[in-house]
Amino acid sequence: MKKINIINGPQNVSAVIQGCMRMPALTKEAAAQVIRTAYDCGINFYDHATCYGENGAAETRFAEAFPLTGIKREDIIIQSKCGLCFDRNEFDWTKENILSSVDDSLRRLNVEYLDTLLLHRPDLLYDPEEVAAAFDELEKAGKVRFFGVSNLVPMQIELLKKYVNQPLNINQVQLSLEQSQLIDQPLYMNNKTTEFSLNRDGNALDYCRLNDITIQAWSPLQVGMFGGTFIDNPDFEELNKALAEIAERENVSKTAVALAWILRHPAKMQVIIGSMNPEHIKDACAAADVNLSHHDWYALYLASGKYLP
Ligand SMILES: NC(=O)c1ccc[n+]([C@@H]2O[C@H](COP(=O)([O-])OP(=O)(O)OC[C@H]3O[C@@H](n4cnc5c(N)ncnc54)[C@H](OP(=O)(O)O)[C@@H]3O)[C@@H](O)[C@H]2O)c1
Repeated sequence: MKKINIINGPQNVSAVIQGCMRMPALTKEAAAQVIRTAYDCGINFYDHATCYGENGAAETRFAEAFPLTGIKREDIIIQSKCGLCFDRNEFDWTKENILSSVDDSLRRLNVEYLDTLLLHRPDLLYDPEEVAAAFDELEKAGKVRFFGVSNLVPMQIELLKKYVNQPLNINQVQLSLEQSQLIDQPLYMNNKTTEFSLNRDGNALDYCRLNDITIQAWSPLQVGMFGGTFIDNPDFEELNKALAEIAERENVSKTAVALAWILRHPAKMQVIIGSMNPEHIKDACAAADVNLSHHDWYALYLASGKYLP
């Protein structure tokens, strides 16, 4: 498995991350098989959030399953996210909520520290000084090693950076061949004839590259937000044909090629897979060893419905 070093963050981490959002649906034994399969394929990074499952059920299931895997806690990176409070219908980055969310995650995960903590989505009422105070306290108490964000535009990160003392080294955002808006906009810049030219994220990709922030791509196989995968989906015939051609040449699955498309980007992103099926996880991990050419990358991009202006 290809490894990357997150600047000012954890080193030697797998390019593919195992997402745990869908883990609440599994038994303890099945969850252990997912964690172990991912690990055996070279994944050493597991992504959680307080809102995955009712009352943090994904974190609870992970902790119940983990002892069955034989993996040592210190050999993996455990990441969680806080700030989405669907039970209260609000997003909350107050100091009080950040601190209590981390305590809840640590208790549910049955660990003494999180390797990385991300602020999940912006609380529209966030006060960066409160966030800074919470991060200082978490760092001092040894509860969190590194800090980052998710789904944030550059100016929000800049505002946080003015107050937060720790480097913000991760931005977890949606990116796939189907949802490629993070990449599209500069190609069509200033073009009135297409929606692709709309700047929806304040140039988050280039901002993150300029500021040594690692992008983690979530839902790399989904259509829209959780609309099912585009792999083998008849609505994406041309894309599946292009994926299949390269998959056959490289002797890997179409899934691996779709993920390799993200890993091919020179921004050195990580990709977060969400499969709970051990065979799909093995297929996905093969992505890290696929070397797509410059031409392959464009062929897939164009097959996903974009065009060269
Ligand atoms: N920061 C954020 O706002 C945010 C938002 C959403 C997600 N995330 C993170 O990103 C992770 C991944 O999200 P996701 O689950 O939507 O990712 P995904 O990998 O795009 O989708 C996984 C889903 O696709 C299914 N699937 C169907 N065919 C597949 C195939 N051939 N290969 C692989 N999967 C296939 C999987 O089913 P099987 O289980 O049957 O394989 C699973 O239900 C989450 O676990 C979470 O950690 C973050």
